[in-house]
Parts: sequence; C-alpha cells; structure tokens
Amino acid sequence: MAEDVFVAGIDVGTTKICTVVGRPQADGRLEVVGVGVTPSAGLKRGIIVDREDAIGTIRQSIDLAQGMAEVEIHSAYVGVTGAHIASANVTGRTNVSPGPAVSDTDVQRAIQSARDAVPLPQDREIIHEVVREFAVDGEGGIMRPIGMSGRRLDVELHAVTGTATIIENIEGSVEECGIKVGSRGLEPIATGTAVITQAERELGVILIDVGGGTTDVAVFVGGGIAHTSAIPVGGDNVTRDLARLLRCSFEEAEQLKCQHARARPEKVDEDQMIQVTLASGGETEAVPLHLVASIIEPRLEEIFALVKANVVRSGTFTDASAGVVLSGGGSQLPDTTDIVSAALDDLPVRVGSPRGLTGRVDLVSSPIHATGVGLAVMAAQDESWAGEPPEPENVGLVDRIMQWWDRLLPRV
Ligand SMILES: Nc1ncnc2c1ncn2[C@@H]1O[C@H](COP(=O)(O)OP(=O)(O)OP(=O)(O)O)[C@@H](O)[C@H]1O
Ligand SMILES: [Mg+2]
Repeated sequence: MAEDVFVAGIDVGTTKICTVVGRPQADGRLEVVGVGVTPSAGLKRGIIVDREDAIGTIRQSIDLAQGMAEVEIHSAYVGVTGAHIASANVTGRTNVSPGPAVSDTDVQRAIQSARDAVPLPQDREIIHEVVREFAVDGEGGIMRPIGMSGRRLDVELHAVTGTATIIENIEGSVEECGIKVGSRGLEPIATGTAVITQAERELGVILIDVGGGTTDVAVFVGGGIAHTSAIPVGGDNVTRDLARLLRCSFEEAEQLKCQHARARPEKVDEDQMIQVTLASGGETEAVPLHLVASIIEPRLEEIFALVKANVVRSGTFTDASAGVVLSGGGSQLPDTTDIVSAALDDLPVRVGSPRGLTGRVDLVSSPIHATGVGLAVMAAQDESWAGEPPEPENVGLVDRIMQWWDRLLPRV
C-alpha cells in the first residue's frame, strides 16, 4: 500500500460530529493522525432537521481533523443510524448453471434472489448488506463458493434497510463540505469494528452503543453480523428527565449528569448534595445525588428493557455467549453496566473503547469516539484489500458484498 494513503470516518452523531483521519499500517492496524470533534447542531435522533446548521458543524469537525493530520481528505466513510433502520436475515437460492463449478454469475443470482426476499415497503431501500454464508448442495458454512462443484447454491444475507431520503440528507450534507462519501457504514457495525474482540465476535456478543438520541444495537455471532437495529432513545432522554424534574436547563442537567451523577441510588450516600442552578433565574438549590440517581435509574432500565425486547425479537438473544459490550457516551455513566446486566438476564457487560490502533490513540480512547474510529477502520480495510481504493462504479455487487464479508471477518 502506498505510504501516503489516508482514510477518514465521519460520525454524524446527535450530540457531536467526530471525524477521524488515519493511515492504514502494513500490520492491519490504523495509525490515528487527526481527530476533530465538534458539538452537533441541526440533528435529532440521527436525522438532519436543519441542513445549514448540520453542514456548518460537519465542516468544523472535518477542518479540525484535517488541521491536526496536516492532510486534506477528499472522501470518507459516513455513519448511518436512526430509528428508520431495520434489519432482516434472508435466504436466496439458485440452481448452478451448467458447467464445472459455481461461477460468479451463480453467486450474483443467489444474492439477488435473497435481496428479492427482503421486505421493502415504499420509500425504503437496502442500505447495507452482508453475506452471512453460502451453502452448496445443502452444505453450509461456505464463504467463497466460486469454483466449487455443486448443483444448488444457497445464500444467507443480512440486509439492513432504511429510509432513502434520510440517508441522502446526511450524505448530501457531508458532500456539501467537499467530501465524497466513499461508502456508508452502518453505525452499530462501525462501533463493533472498533471495540469488539475477535473472540467475542466468534462466541456471540451484543453491542449496545448508547448515544445522545439513539441506542444502536448489533449482535455478532460466529464471526459475522446477525442483527442490527437502532432504538430512538438515548442519553438525551436521561438529561431531559433530570432537567424536567429538577427544574433546571438541559445544559445544567447535562453537566450534572456527566460530572457528578451515578445511576444506582443505593451506591450514593443519602447526605451527598449538589448545587443546581434553577431554570427560573440565578437561584441555586441543593439537590441530593441520591434523588438524581433515582431519576436516572428507571429511564436507563426502560432503555435496556427495550434493547432486550429488540434482541429477543430478532431471535439472537441466546447467541450472546460472550455477553454485552457497551459503548457510546452513555456507557460513561457510573453503574450503567450494572443496569444493563440486570436488564439482560445477568449477562456479563464490559465497556468497549476503540482498540487495535497506533498513533494519536490518546485522542480517541473514549467510547464516545468508537463509531468514528470504526468508520475509519472500515475505510482502511477497504483500501488495504485492493491496495488502492476501488472506483465504486467499477465494483460489482458481488465484490461489494464480499468486501463487506471480509471486513466483518475477525481481524482485530
Ligand atoms: N461522562 C459521562 N457521563 C454520563 N453520560 C455521558 C458522559 N459523557 C457523555 N455522556 C452522554 O453520552 C451521550 C452522547 O453520546 P455519543 O457522543 O456517543 O452520542 P452521539 O453519537 O452524538 O449520538 P447518536 O449516536 O445518538 O447520534 C449524551 O447523552 C451524553 O450526555
Ligand atoms: Mg453515536
């Protein structure tokens, strides 16, 4: 790979935009060379609600990362999430055309037949797809069937669907900043790429990324992806509860939550107090931290009960032998791992920070940066493959899907 290849990931989050610029290394790791984090504007639950504001903050984040890296980036992987995201595991089948072996065309036909099985109401499209496995004449677990002898080819595909216009708005805003969207990365998959170990991915693990506006969920099993979803509640709901019940501004509640709060009332001394500036003016009021925890706890229990119901519905809950990895800003609140474990049948829970990096690792060590890092790593893996980034118009469907598949194979 050329030494001067740089890659970038842009996480357009509800609370912050995080741009990560990196240089892929020969050993497969990513050297972090620039990071730009700016508070978001114009976004709500992963959706752009004010285009001008969104473009302004995305541009700031890119400028910061470019300035630090001292390079100009021209393309990036951009994250996609939001409650409009849904996923399904579908199967496709084709008869192998006459000849000595399974051909590229057979593979394409099987994949297309799987795509045809994806439920697609109007205005939705497949935004992301990953081959889980192929089977030749009923023998499963095959990753590269081309060249194998057989008569029937089956494929299992993980397909993620979303609302096309919502995604076009995010990508359009990034392109307005002069950045070509190289590819879109589903945010929970990107976060997983940054924080999950190979062993966890093999054993089966639930990734929960608690952001400001959404809680993203992904289940990895047998080295591949089995389920993805986004639930439209997150840390901002906790902050809003605090602001409403303590009668203070959102900003005051956010500061209180991030600097002083924990989530289990029994872990707080009854007499621990904090001064809160009231919304009515400059007045302050002493509030017991025990009360703060009593406000936070039920909201988090509700969020993680929703996560459990979502994963159970997908049929993958019992696959999570390695437990849960928690990431995103919401993972930083003390006692959250305890609440997650209690909500998910006492599964073990750890907080996942970005791993497998070199360079300015100190700048991206928090779970808050996991999605941005994961997107940059996905971009790097894209390039390391072919040596040079392939021109999207020259890359066929099968290539793209196989690239995704390779990317999801354990490498970390
Ligand atoms: N130290 C902390 N303690 C508690 N909560 C925190 C802490 N740091 C960040 N958070 C919370 O994390 C949330 C933001 O997380 P993150 O940066 O992952 O979100 P985002 O990616 O911008 O949003 P989304 O993924 O929903 O689009 C906010 O609700 C914030 O209050
Ligand atoms: Mg996020």
